Amino acid sequence: MFPSQLLVFCCFQLVLSKWSMAAPTTTNLFFYQQYLNGKGNKDSYYNNMNLHVDSTFSSVFALRGGNATLPCRFWYKPELGSPREVRIKWSRFPVAGGPQTDVLVAVGSRNRIFREFRGRVRLRQDFAEDASLDMTQLGLNDSGRYVCEVVDGLEDKRTTVDLELRGVVFPYQHPLGRYYLSFMEAQQVCEKQDATLATFTQLFHSWEDGLNWCNAGWLADGTVQYPITQPRAPCGGYELAPGIRNYGRRQLTNHRYDAFCFSSFMKGQVYYFQPFHKMNLTEARQACETDKAQIAKVGQLYAAWKYTGLDECNGGWLDDGSVRYPITRPRKNCGPSEPGVRNFGFLPPQDKWGVYCYKEKS
Ligand SMILES: *[C@@H]1O[C@H](CO)[C@@H](O)[C@H](O)[C@H]1NC(C)=O
Ligand SMILES: *[C@@H]1O[C@H](CO)[C@@H](O)[C@H](O)[C@H]1NC(C)=O
Ligand SMILES: *[C@@H]1O[C@H](CO)[C@@H](O)[C@H](O)[C@H]1NC(C)=O
Repeated sequence: MFPSQLLVFCCFQLVLSKWSMAAPTTTNLFFYQQYLNGKGNKDSYYNNMNLHVDSTFSSVFALRGGNATLPCRFWYKPELGSPREVRIKWSRFPVAGGPQTDVLVAVGSRNRIFREFRGRVRLRQDFAEDASLDMTQLGLNDSGRYVCEVVDGLEDKRTTVDLELRGVVFPYQHPLGRYYLSFMEAQQVCEKQDATLATFTQLFHSWEDGLNWCNAGWLADGTVQYPITQPRAPCGGYELAPGIRNYGRRQLTNHRYDAFCFSSFMKGQVYYFQPFHKMNLTEARQACETDKAQIAKVGQLYAAWKYTGLDECNGGWLDDGSVRYPITRPRKNCGPSEPGVRNFGFLPPQDKWGVYCYKEKS
């Protein structure tokens, strides 16, 4: 009897003294809870703890197909003697806006993983308070703001980590010309080209790399913007400094612009193919298939240009019916003096060209 009473007494004292130092005005509340819960009840002790959650990085960068760890850890102040079971939840804000969607929920060793994250995320748990999220096989649309939330009883703390896929941004127009795409159509044309609508950060990095484009295009967040590195009269005038011009959020269904698509590293290979003679679009598709490949998409050609240095001074058909060629070492008769993917536009399908094929790495 006596030792256990002593124990209760000692802990009560300890908690009380900490509390009266930190927040003297709330000691009455403490006494009240003690009274309600019965003296020495654990819950009243934990009502006075402070749970903290933070992340060592606020942004994490990765390439398509790669892995990433979103850091998050929690701790208590005052420190606890023994570990507590907490609920850890990861969710994310889609870049296109809208409500948070669940990624993973874990309590102890049990966890649940949601939809498109199944089979490719897990809690790291290198140590007891580690709530970091390991992600594999990253896709272009995994970019976003991720929320790490830790819940212990009534305490609920959270922090955020931005995951940003790195890659290459390219402007994309409808075959009929400039400013034909609603927001949804812009999403679709990018996806058809093995790409996704670019985020503002992705467009910003491309602008830093020299992307200079005078037509406004949709971004993933529903805003319409365009990057200018060399101010000129038809693009907002000479007075405006170089930068990203922003039209702000536009009406997603009524307003029409071009698109800024985003592609990233890929495992497959893109190559120029011209078996015997130049080909119309039908023959070009067939030629790639005969070569156990597929006619390349625009996003794949950009990714090959960026990540494998593909350099070919021959126009070739692509899947969308445009004719383009990639130049990493600019030279005479191969377009402008900067590296880039040159675009002849959408041409009549009977025109004769080479073709760019895409082959998966086996
Ligand atoms: C990603 O992680 C998986 C398993 O965790 C590993 O097999 C793979 O090699 C990693 N990929 C990269 C690009 O590091
Ligand atoms: C992301 O893309 C994958 C396939 O590329 C798709 O299965 C998934 O539903 C997409 N997720 C979102 C949130 O759009
Ligand atoms: C391409 O050429 C083939 C003959 O080699 C012809 O049958 C086909 O109709 C042509 N396609 C187009 C789009 O011109």
